[in-house]
Amino acid sequence: MPLPGEIDAWDELTRHAVELAETDLRALFAADPERPEALSVDGAGVHLDFSKQLVTEGTVGLLEGLAVERRVSELRDAMFRGERINTTENRPVLHVALRMPPERSLVVDGKDVVREVHAVLDRMAGFCDRVRLGEWAGQTGRPIRTVVNIGIGGSALGPEMAYAALREYAIDRLDFRFVSNVDGADLGSALEGLDPAETLFVVCSKTFTTLETMTNAAHAREWLLSGLGDDGAAVARHFVAVSTNTAEVTKFGIDPDNMFVFWDWVGGRYSMDSAIGLTTMLAVGPDRFHDMLAGFHEVDELFVAKPFRSNLPMLHGMLAVWNRDFLGFPSTAVIPYSHRLARFPAYLQQLTMESNGKRVTREGEPVGVETGAVYWGEPGTNAQHSFFQLFHQGTQPVPADLIAFRQPDRQSVGGQEMLVANALAQGRALAFGRTADEAREAGIPEWQIPHRTFPGNRPTSTLLLDRLTPRSLGSLVALYEHSVFVQGAIWGIDSFDQWGVELGKEMALEIVPALTDGDGLEGLDPSTRDLALRFRDRS
Ligand code: F6P
Repeated sequence: MPLPGEIDAWDELTRHAVELAETDLRALFAADPERPEALSVDGAGVHLDFSKQLVTEGTVGLLEGLAVERRVSELRDAMFRGERINTTENRPVLHVALRMPPERSLVVDGKDVVREVHAVLDRMAGFCDRVRLGEWAGQTGRPIRTVVNIGIGGSALGPEMAYAALREYAIDRLDFRFVSNVDGADLGSALEGLDPAETLFVVCSKTFTTLETMTNAAHAREWLLSGLGDDGAAVARHFVAVSTNTAEVTKFGIDPDNMFVFWDWVGGRYSMDSAIGLTTMLAVGPDRFHDMLAGFHEVDELFVAKPFRSNLPMLHGMLAVWNRDFLGFPSTAVIPYSHRLARFPAYLQQLTMESNGKRVTREGEPVGVETGAVYWGEPGTNAQHSFFQLFHQGTQPVPADLIAFRQPDRQSVGGQEMLVANALAQGRALAFGRTADEAREAGIPEWQIPHRTFPGNRPTSTLLLDRLTPRSLGSLVALYEHSVFVQGAIWGIDSFDQWGVELGKEMALEIVPALTDGDGLEGLDPSTRDLALRFRDRS
């Protein structure tokens, strides 16, 4: 990536950020009460109000200039054409093909990937219907009652998040559990109280070699066979696989007929709408799964078609770059005011940080500017009673996305007004704060004034949607996917590889023999050796 001084728009934005530091959100709103109209965008049922970000219309124009200079649209179009934009893995990046309608066609390397996608979706639907209707019998002839999803990272966070989000749409007669951690307590507690005769394991792994997933799957198989008698045929009735690796699936003992494929052009963290969503489809049914895909696709379409000023993901991504590089904020919070979205921040953590936690460009040169922010969050209002103190009065602002819905969950027993009032109040308090004079007017004693004033000028965006549905969930996820893409395109990094997780995996495998048998202790660094010895010193 050219260094900041070599990009005109970058320099202009740097100067602009210095100028803007002279003012604040109170002054900006006082000067222009129409800000919410000018600084908001609608698309796919999402209203994004970014008028409480530290921006002006001028900022948006300069960000557009930067996006043009960095050729974000060209890279986007290359992605949609199926070009190999994941350069370090030499792969196309085609999660957008996962949600293209069947009448579309996209030929990559001589194959129509849309047709392949729909063939898998149809197989998934057939299987899900049988399990949901109780027609898929286990080894003893009894129908399945519990589905245990085994996977980690992109092969777990999406299905787990989607199940929690769409619980009110889930079938009652099936129970769903999720296992990721190699800590045996995770599988142990998931299996508690289950009858193997009525349990189905969905083993999700793109590579089918991931240590955690393979360990958990092997233990699950032992548990099943010890419950049903050591009959390999039971595995065929109680295990299905979602993977790109047929050879490894077969080696594990899963019948390839019970395997649902996806492709190396689907990144793990971009796969919840592929066959990795099998558990989601089992829960909500094929029609609602297709509704979710339609929500994704709607955002894909507007990402491609809309001009910058009305392009929801483009604006969202460029605001993230503004906050990260020009205002210098290292972290971003995502606060869903929907308890159903409790796992959404965890899902976004992988999407954002595994994608954009990079320090070299696609060409292997240092990026030269700050890249991916730390993303984190918790549902509102719980978050308000833990870390929001720092948001309001800490020394540095933490930009936040506040996500709210007009309609309550169908199972909600309280009023939506109280929940949404909290979302709006937080955005307002963070933006406008409370001055010392206002605190005095409110009768606060003088000695408490420093503690009870709020500096304000802390940026938030508010995303307002109608209701949490399969479709709106798809749109929300696609919005963040493309926002991540835009950020990565500006930084010139490969947002679709994840080499950074390799070293720790390799080292864990090296350390296992040191912990089990004391082998290889001498090759470890002194600190790790000392800790390994202390671990081994257990009665
Ligand atoms: O953490 C690295 C990673 O490769 C993720 O990108 C991926 O989502 C996860 O591990 C699981 O990989 P797999 O689906 O191959 O088991």
